[in-house]
Amino acid sequence: MSTRPPGQGPASRVLGPAVERDPDDVRPNRVPRRVFRKLLPYFRPYAARTILTIALMVMVALTGLAGPALAQVAIDRGITAGDEAVLVAVVVVFVLAGLVGWLAGYWQSYLSGWVGERVLLDLRTKLFDHMMGLELGHHERQPTGRSVSRLTNDVEAVNMLVTDGATSLVVNGLTFLGAVGILLWYDWKLALAAFAIFPLLALGTGIFRVRSTRAYRHTRERVADVMSHLQENISGIRVVQGHGRQDQARREFIRVNRDYREANMETVRVSGVYFPGVELLAALGTALILYYGGNRVLDEDLTVGVMVAFIGYLGTFFDPIQQLSQLYNTFQSAVAALEKIFGVLETEPELTSAPGAPDLPPVAGAVRLEGVSFGYGREYVLHDVDLDIAAGETVALVGPTGAGKSTLAKLIARLYDPDEGRVLVDGHDLRMVSVPSLRAQLGIVPQEGHLFGGSIADNLRFARPGATDEDLRAALGMVGALEFVDSLPDGLDTDVQERGSRLSAGQRQLLSFARALVADPRLLILDEATSSIDLRSERRIEQALDTLLAGRTAIVIAHRLSTIRRADRIVVVEDGRVAEQGTHDDLMARGGRYAGLYSDWERAAA
Ligand SMILES: Nc1ncnc2c1ncn2[C@@H]1O[C@H](COP(=O)(O)OP(=O)(O)O)[C@@H](O)[C@H]1O
Ligand SMILES: [Mg+2]
Repeated sequence: MSTRPPGQGPASRVLGPAVERDPDDVRPNRVPRRVFRKLLPYFRPYAARTILTIALMVMVALTGLAGPALAQVAIDRGITAGDEAVLVAVVVVFVLAGLVGWLAGYWQSYLSGWVGERVLLDLRTKLFDHMMGLELGHHERQPTGRSVSRLTNDVEAVNMLVTDGATSLVVNGLTFLGAVGILLWYDWKLALAAFAIFPLLALGTGIFRVRSTRAYRHTRERVADVMSHLQENISGIRVVQGHGRQDQARREFIRVNRDYREANMETVRVSGVYFPGVELLAALGTALILYYGGNRVLDEDLTVGVMVAFIGYLGTFFDPIQQLSQLYNTFQSAVAALEKIFGVLETEPELTSAPGAPDLPPVAGAVRLEGVSFGYGREYVLHDVDLDIAAGETVALVGPTGAGKSTLAKLIARLYDPDEGRVLVDGHDLRMVSVPSLRAQLGIVPQEGHLFGGSIADNLRFARPGATDEDLRAALGMVGALEFVDSLPDGLDTDVQERGSRLSAGQRQLLSFARALVADPRLLILDEATSSIDLRSERRIEQALDTLLAGRTAIVIAHRLSTIRRADRIVVVEDGRVAEQGTHDDLMARGGRYAGLYSDWERAAA
C-alpha cells in the first residue's frame, strides 16, 4: 500500500486521527472557569428561576445561622435579665425562623432540581443530536462505550454538581463564612481561641481528601475490572463453556472481586479514621470554649449567652467543612466530565453539505467514480479507482478480504468523502448536494442486519414511517419472510428484543432485506448481506434478492457464487484497485483473477 503523497488531500483529514485528542485523557481542573462559562448558556432559558434558587439558598443559610444568636439573646436579655417578654419574643422568632428555613429549603430543593434537570436534559439532547450528526468515521474511531459514557456517566457527574453541588457550595460556604463573621463580631479573642482547631481540621481534611480521592479512584478502576470481566465472560459464554474454561473464569472472577473488596476496604479505613477524628476535634473545640469562655464568664468579662452561642456556632462549622471538602471531588469529576462533553460538542462534523447545497433531485441511479483515492489514516486503501455503474444495473464487487470493497461502498453512500477524485450519482458530485437528499434515495444492508428494540413492524418502518401494514406485509412476502413472521405469536407486532435472540441470523437478514424494500431506495448497497444465511434457505434468499434488486441500481458485495453469477457485471477489487471487470462468462473466458477466485470457490464448495 502506497503512502499518501505529502501535501496531498485535505490536511485535516490526514492529521485528523493523529491530533484528535482522546477525550478520556483530559486532565481535570486545567481550565475549570472556561468550562463553567460554557455551561452558563444552558442556564439562560431558566435565568429567573436560577436567581430565585440562589436567593433561597442564601435564605436557608441565614435561617440556619439564626439559632445560636437567638439563644444568646434569650439567655442574656431574657433569662439573665429576668425579662419574660424578651424570652417569649425570641421563642416566637425562633419558630418563625424555623418555618422560613423549612419553606425556603423546600422551594430551594424543588427549584434547583427543576432547573438542574432541565439543563441536563438540554445538554444531553444537544450531545445526542451532535453525535448523531457526526460522520461514521468519527464513530469508527471511537469505541461505542466511550460515546455512551459521555451521555450517561459524564452527564451524571455534571448532574451531581448542578443539583447537589451548587446548593452545597452556596449554603455551606455562606454558613461557614457567616459563622466566622458572627463569632469575630461577638468576641474576637474567644473566636480566635475557637478557631485554634481549624489548622488541625484543615490538615486532617486535606489528608483525608487526598487519600479518599485515591481510594475512590481505585474502587472505580477495580469495579471496571469486575464489569469487564463479567461482560467478557457472559457475552463469551459459548466460548467459555465450549472450551470448558468455567473454573478458570471463576478463579479470575474471584481475583478481580477480591481486588475490588480490598479497594473498598481502603475507603472504609480512610473514612473510619477521619469522621470520628472530626468528632474528637469538635469535642476539643467545645472544651476549649468552655474552659476559656467559662473563665471569662466567671471574670464577668463575657456573658453566658455569648458562650452558649459560641458552642452552637462551633457545631455549624464542622458540617460545612466536611461537605465542602467532599464537594471538591464532585467539582473535579464535573470539570473532567464537562471537558469531555464539550470536547464532543466541539468536534465539527467533517461530512457536511456545502451551505445551501441543493437537494439531489430524484435520480435514475447511475453511479460514477472518477479517479477516487481514499484512506482512513495516512495510507490510501483505494487508489485512483474509476468505475461506471449504469442506472438499474446490478454490480457484484468481489475480491479478497481487505481489498477495499466495503470502503468503496461507504464512499458511494457518502459515509466518507474521497481524498482525491469524485463520486457522482446521475452526474451530481455527492459533495455538492445535501446529505439527507442522497440518503433518502439510497439504502445499505450491512452484514449484520441490526434490529432496533421494538416490534418487527417498527423495524420495517424504520426508513419510511408512513408505510402501512399492507406495505410491510407485501415487502415481507416479496423477500419470502411472510410465512415465518406470521408463524410468530404476535406476527408483525412481535417484539424483536424479547424474541431477538430467538430470531436466527438468516431471519434477521430477511427482515433487513424487507426493511430495505419498504424504504424502496433507487440505489441499494448490500455489503456481504447474505453471508450469514445458512445454505438451506439459499433458494429463498436468492429469490428475495431478485425481488430486492429488480428495478434499482444495486451494488452487491458477496461471497456467494450464485449471487455473483446473477449480477449484470462483476468487478474484481484487489489492493484498492479495480483488477478486472466484466460478466461472469467474459471473466471466465479471460482466465484472469476472477477465474482463479472462481476455481478456489468451486474447490471449497466441493
Ligand atoms: N474504519 C476503518 N479505519 C481504518 N482502516 C479501515 C477501516 N475500515 C477498513 N479499513 C482498512 O481498509 C482496508 C479495506 O477494508 P475494506 O474496505 O473493509 O475491505 P473489504 O470490504 O474488501 O474486506 C483494509 O486494509 C482495512 O483494514
Ligand atoms: Mg467488507
